[in-house]
Amino acid sequence: MIPRFTGPPLLGLNLRFLRDPLGMFEQARRDHGDLVELDLGVAGTLHAAFHPDGVRQVLQRGRRTHRGLLRELLGKGLFTTPSGDDWMRRRRLMQPLFHPDRLAEAIPLLRRPIVEALDTRWRAGSRVDLAAEMKRLTVAMMIDATFGGAPGVDKAAAREALSFLLGYVDEQLFRFPTVPRSLPTRDNRRYRRDIAVLRRVIEDAMRRPGDEPTFLNGLLDTRASGGGFTDEELVDEVLSIFIAGTETTGTALTWALHLLSQHPEQRGTSAEWARAAVSEAVRLYPPAWALRRVLDEPLEIGGHEVPAGARVIVSSYVTHRHPDIWDHPGQFRLDRWLEPANRPRFSYFPFGAGAHQCVGNAFALLEGELVLTEIARRFQLGPPERPLTGTKPAIALTPVPAPQPLLLPA
Ligand code: HEM
Repeated sequence: MIPRFTGPPLLGLNLRFLRDPLGMFEQARRDHGDLVELDLGVAGTLHAAFHPDGVRQVLQRGRRTHRGLLRELLGKGLFTTPSGDDWMRRRRLMQPLFHPDRLAEAIPLLRRPIVEALDTRWRAGSRVDLAAEMKRLTVAMMIDATFGGAPGVDKAAAREALSFLLGYVDEQLFRFPTVPRSLPTRDNRRYRRDIAVLRRVIEDAMRRPGDEPTFLNGLLDTRASGGGFTDEELVDEVLSIFIAGTETTGTALTWALHLLSQHPEQRGTSAEWARAAVSEAVRLYPPAWALRRVLDEPLEIGGHEVPAGARVIVSSYVTHRHPDIWDHPGQFRLDRWLEPANRPRFSYFPFGAGAHQCVGNAFALLEGELVLTEIARRFQLGPPERPLTGTKPAIALTPVPAPQPLLLPA
């Protein structure tokens, strides 16, 4: 029998799940072990696998299902496409956009918004709202990486619309109960307007793409050999990376900077240091803190059989802190990434694993490297104003309260 973590009749663990999913997962592993049935009352059972062996099986053999609400909100790009032939075709077309050579060519596009933000908004002697600044910056980097400097493309409108949409999607997915989208509330009207704004900007840019190494040009190139994206698909793919690739990277950088501000002894300036800081930040606080799959066939995990049809969840947050695998799992230590280590492959999966592994993984790490090294060249981060009291799991895992370290000259 698979150990079962139960809650009150009918309700099961649902309330706990809504209020404190990470605490619930941690308790499930601590009290019941590496494979657990979570009782969701009338909503049935969710299996959870916490050990790297189970994680490997689930992510290699499970199927990602339809993400109904996200598809409705954002269209049918790679990020919201369920496993299957349509997903495979999109993935093959998207993958070359993220080839290391291509990303290296995009570095000047990414540097521009970083330098601009630091020149105009960051001042030694003042405090900085890390979450707000990193959101703003990752949105700006994404818009520039997508459109470059193509004239006549309203990038300011795109930045504003994307910022609003990120918040809106978060609320739709994580606020309960939500206001129905059919009601003409201010936010619902703005959602419709801003999605239209983004679609229009993307369509404008498609008509005058320029010749920079942008995501948009990469997508347009898919058509050269036939079988590429149609106009409509292309717009959906751009929206898909906008949503998958901004909040995630923004919170990863927020955590990295927040943790560095608390650990001045781990200060550095090199590209390798910056990548280690991002890797360690997303180990402790993975933006995508849980992934869900459905099994088409039974799986044997840790000596138990999980039946076909089961819904299974894996949580990077829990596995990244598994005490059998990590030394001092709660500590922020960059040496884990600067020295060779011998850990099971699926003990660390901030970017997922298996077929759906994050297509933007290398892009996110490149952004992290560029942002952290440029900040380190100019500033030291003093201690945050208030201590961290918790985390807020939403589309990405964010720190509470928002960290506001003091900027000191480097
Ligand atoms: C630190 C930043 C990031 C994190 C932690 C992250 C995390 C993830 C994870 C965990 C998945 C797997 C989802 C699943 O298995 O269902 C994923 C998929 C995806 N990510 Fe990222 N991501 C990041 C940045 C980005 C960026 C910068 C982009 C685009 C520029 C991006 C685009 C995507 C897309 C399109 C998928 C869907 C892949 C597929 O299903 O084939 N992500 N990401």
